[in-house]
Amino acid sequence: MAAAVAIIVIFFLSAMAVSVAAAVVEHTFVVSQVNMTHLCKETLVTVVNGQLPGPAIEITEGDSVAVLLVNKSPYNITIHWHGVKQWLNCWADGVPMVTQRPILPNHNFTYMFNVIGHEGTLWWHAHVPFLRATLHGALIIRPRHGASSYPFPKPHREVPIIIGDWWELDLPQVGWNMKHGSFDFFASGSTINGKLGDLFNCSGVAEDNYVLDVEPGKTYLLRVINAGLFSEFYLKIAGHKFTVVAADAHYVSPYTTDVIAIAPGETVDALVVANAPPGRFYMVALPNQAPLPDTQTPEYTTRGMVQYSRNHSRSGANGAAALMSTHGAKEEEEEEGPSGDVAVAPEMPGHHDTITSFYFHSNLTSLHHPLVPQRVDEHLFIVLGLGSVCKHGRQSCKRGDKNETIVVATMNNISFQHPVATTPLLEAHYYHTGGRNAMEELPDQPPRVFNFTDLDLIPFGPKEMQLEPSSKATMVRRFRHGAVVDMVFQSTAMLQGDSNPMHLHGHDMFLLAEGLGNYDAAKDMTRFNLVNPPVKNTVLVPNLGWAAIRFVANNPGVWFMHCHYEFHLAMGMATVFIVEDGTTADTSLPPPPVDFPTCFGNCDNVLPYELRLENMKGEHNSI
Ligand code: C2O
Repeated sequence: MAAAVAIIVIFFLSAMAVSVAAAVVEHTFVVSQVNMTHLCKETLVTVVNGQLPGPAIEITEGDSVAVLLVNKSPYNITIHWHGVKQWLNCWADGVPMVTQRPILPNHNFTYMFNVIGHEGTLWWHAHVPFLRATLHGALIIRPRHGASSYPFPKPHREVPIIIGDWWELDLPQVGWNMKHGSFDFFASGSTINGKLGDLFNCSGVAEDNYVLDVEPGKTYLLRVINAGLFSEFYLKIAGHKFTVVAADAHYVSPYTTDVIAIAPGETVDALVVANAPPGRFYMVALPNQAPLPDTQTPEYTTRGMVQYSRNHSRSGANGAAALMSTHGAKEEEEEEGPSGDVAVAPEMPGHHDTITSFYFHSNLTSLHHPLVPQRVDEHLFIVLGLGSVCKHGRQSCKRGDKNETIVVATMNNISFQHPVATTPLLEAHYYHTGGRNAMEELPDQPPRVFNFTDLDLIPFGPKEMQLEPSSKATMVRRFRHGAVVDMVFQSTAMLQGDSNPMHLHGHDMFLLAEGLGNYDAAKDMTRFNLVNPPVKNTVLVPNLGWAAIRFVANNPGVWFMHCHYEFHLAMGMATVFIVEDGTTADTSLPPPPVDFPTCFGNCDNVLPYELRLENMKGEHNSI
């Protein structure tokens, strides 16, 4: 017994010796408006620290992050740390009027949180309608025990690849318009790491490409983020393959593919070996869109460049290729020469190809077998689609008439009404103060069962019209602490055949299965992957198909759950999950941080950032 204890102690000490002590990583984010010129037009853009994309936060798993947000923009702002669990720390989740009051112009707020149980790429973004188009950046989480503990060969370099949009419009205004039923607002271009690329030009001058310089034979870890508001994207690099190693900051079984499919909110980490004959290769991001009869909206392909350095020795190539055994890398015995003059473009999937995305997502499995609970407490079946509500709160109205109805996006026929009360839902929940009356329960089932994926429902018409009437409410769903919840999301053909990237705050989801057409429990439950399902914070529900997830409601608080398409979110495809406290202190939500502006009387009574940081560091040192 004593020997066993000694061994455990030695093991523990040696484990400590190699691990890095958890740090507090500090950032100051100044939100302000700057002028940027693209497509011959100067546009006022709201950004963090003058950058688009915003600054990357780079940490080691287990670190704490402290971000002082200084709002010098004219807008109310909150920042959401997308995918961070915020364990017992819902206060830092950054959803306006759900978890906190928005930070007003000329006000500051400090976000503090730990990042535990994730390795890979997450990201941060504003959670204010549409402003996340320009307020976003990467959150990079490296393993505690260093790069040598990656479950893949240590890459030569790590590179964020952020796919985004370029807008020339007043974004909060666009958000407001969409919420009120007018949809004719679109981006002017797409970007890779903020660059539109040479498919865009004005007056004959091409926009700059994002350029990734590579050395032959070296391996690169791309940390791909879709920060776009409206589209799934396909990403390809001519002449190269990807080995996908992580998604949503959880490792997946290495999966080799020449195309990455990524929906808004998702992240994909993929290795690329520079094993092509040296030259220049386009990296292309192409949006995909549901085919006709869906409404076709302007969407843009963008491209950057992967460029081999010219003065290199090629000797390293075989070694690195050998590291990637799944890659089947073959060096072409090509003579050294000026082969880099013509850039090679990849062959892309079709603009209307939604199946490649379905297969990409279905092919992901967890690298390590996660602990999937086998006993389920609650079953929800959530139908996603469009519908309409009558204007001016009327009971009935003429469907299809813009003067009488507002088109909304729904979950089980209810469109989320963002809380407008002065007390955020989390604060009201924690202090048991009011706000409840205005809320409605999210039903576990849709009010009607119909052929959800019937293509006849896409165009407005008699069949669709009967199903269209919806209601609007601040809907919530309560869960007992620790409840194991199965949710099936069903995409529909109601006025559109879109996919739906569904994002849950505060919890990861096991993606058990997905399919095309209507979900059929009897048949489809037998296909659930309970062994190595991917662990995701954003689950792409395929076009005219479904996805089944399981999660454990064990993080007490008030959590937003919504589609990560900004237009769907603005139109109300959202709900709030309230996870009750457990029976012990460490399963209950602690009170808000001392400087949290709850508004019992005096909102200005805020502990300065420096003091709070001191407190936090003190706590860390005493661990
Ligand atoms: Cu990335 Cu609630 O969002």
